[in-house]
Amino acid sequence: MKALCWHGRGEVQVDTVPDPVIQEPTDVIVRITSTAICGSDLHLFDGYQPTMEKGDILGHESMGVVVETGRAVKNLKKGDRVVVPFVIACGDCFFCNRQEFSMCDKSNPNAELARKAMGHSPAGCFGFSHLLGGFPGGQADFLRVPHADVGPIKIESDLPDEKVLFLSDIFPTGYMAAENCGIEEGDTVAVWGCGPVGQFAIRSAWMFGAGRVIAIDRLPERLAMAKQAKAETIDFMDEKVYDRLMEMTGGRGPDRCIDAVGCEAHGAGSIDAVVDKVKAAVKLTTDRAHVLREAIRCCRKGGTISVPGVYVGFLDKIPFGAAMNKGLNWKMGQTHVQRYTKPLLEMIENGTIDPSFVITHRAPLSDAPAMYETFRDKKDNCIKVVLNP
Ligand SMILES: NC(=O)c1ccc[n+]([C@@H]2O[C@H](COP(=O)([O-])OP(=O)(O)OC[C@H]3O[C@@H](n4cnc5c(N)ncnc54)[C@H](O)[C@@H]3O)[C@@H](O)[C@H]2O)c1
Ligand SMILES: [Zn+2]
Ligand SMILES: [Zn+2]
Repeated sequence: MKALCWHGRGEVQVDTVPDPVIQEPTDVIVRITSTAICGSDLHLFDGYQPTMEKGDILGHESMGVVVETGRAVKNLKKGDRVVVPFVIACGDCFFCNRQEFSMCDKSNPNAELARKAMGHSPAGCFGFSHLLGGFPGGQADFLRVPHADVGPIKIESDLPDEKVLFLSDIFPTGYMAAENCGIEEGDTVAVWGCGPVGQFAIRSAWMFGAGRVIAIDRLPERLAMAKQAKAETIDFMDEKVYDRLMEMTGGRGPDRCIDAVGCEAHGAGSIDAVVDKVKAAVKLTTDRAHVLREAIRCCRKGGTISVPGVYVGFLDKIPFGAAMNKGLNWKMGQTHVQRYTKPLLEMIENGTIDPSFVITHRAPLSDAPAMYETFRDKKDNCIKVVLNP
């Protein structure tokens, strides 16, 4: 089959690789019909995630049709149309029983490696580094799905792929980011990053009762998309974010702050970001944490910082003293996708939201390498790419 493979920093190509096969009785094989490129793929593409190996198949936002089932699979059969969550979860460990699927204790075969690095291992994920299991991803003709009774959600209506595909990641991710804020009726929510995750966080913040949503980015097309969802906007290249947020909130700061940017934040010329660049070059720091620092500074006392943005390793100059003295609350994590697929599918079915609004580019899988560059470099007003094998 054809698959988009990682070959090193900034290098991906479509290779011919062996078709996946059933390895465990709880596996299914899915023929992929649609798959997307995520901001998390960019961290792999840009070489931020350690433990990648040449030839790794990327992709964790995928859907398609079941073509083969392991003998222990109960909920799926050949021909079922499914969306596959990016998180792999066993369904019956301590964490899965608490619906904390991205912390599943049993789905990462490289758990020992992850334990050494982090103290405990998170769940395995499709198309990520070997630290998270090294599972082949779904930017391919076919995908092997382990624990198939727990993850994939069946699509029984005739909704097109584009409306349901993002149940695999970015819709639940934006939704959980907003939920994690603990929004109280009328709160002001600031969202850093108007990429796909930020866009879903903005729309979800309203669902949880926000009174105002303020979106921060520098790309006009992304700010325009945020405005379509009734967010007020700040262009961080034009204005000092802290000053502008204080002006907008009478000096109190936003009640809830969402970092939907993560480890590759643009520094907007600030000194902390210049230092990050220098230190990263000599491997003294791993992540560019400008947004996290700014969110801590801007958040109102006693407010909440919610971090869906992915961080990888060791962050430098985090003003933890400010966070402590301001009494901030923190929530973060990879999304517990399986917890949200059903209720969010219902919202799509009843017309509350049509997630396809975010798509700007559609291309065949063979064009994936060019699409990675277009998405990374924010060329051609690109916000979200869907690939069709
Ligand atoms: N927690 C999860 O489970 C999960 C799931 C999906 C994605 N993610 C992460 O969410 C983040 C966003 O993903 P995406 O697909 O939207 O990515 P993206 O790269 O399309 O969007 C990031 C946006 O942040 C903006 N940005 C950069 N620096 C900024 C700054 N200083 N201030 C404000 N905005 C800034 C960029 O201009 C861009 O629009 C990534 O880190 C991704 O890895 C996490
Ligand atoms: Zn993703
Ligand atoms: Zn589990």
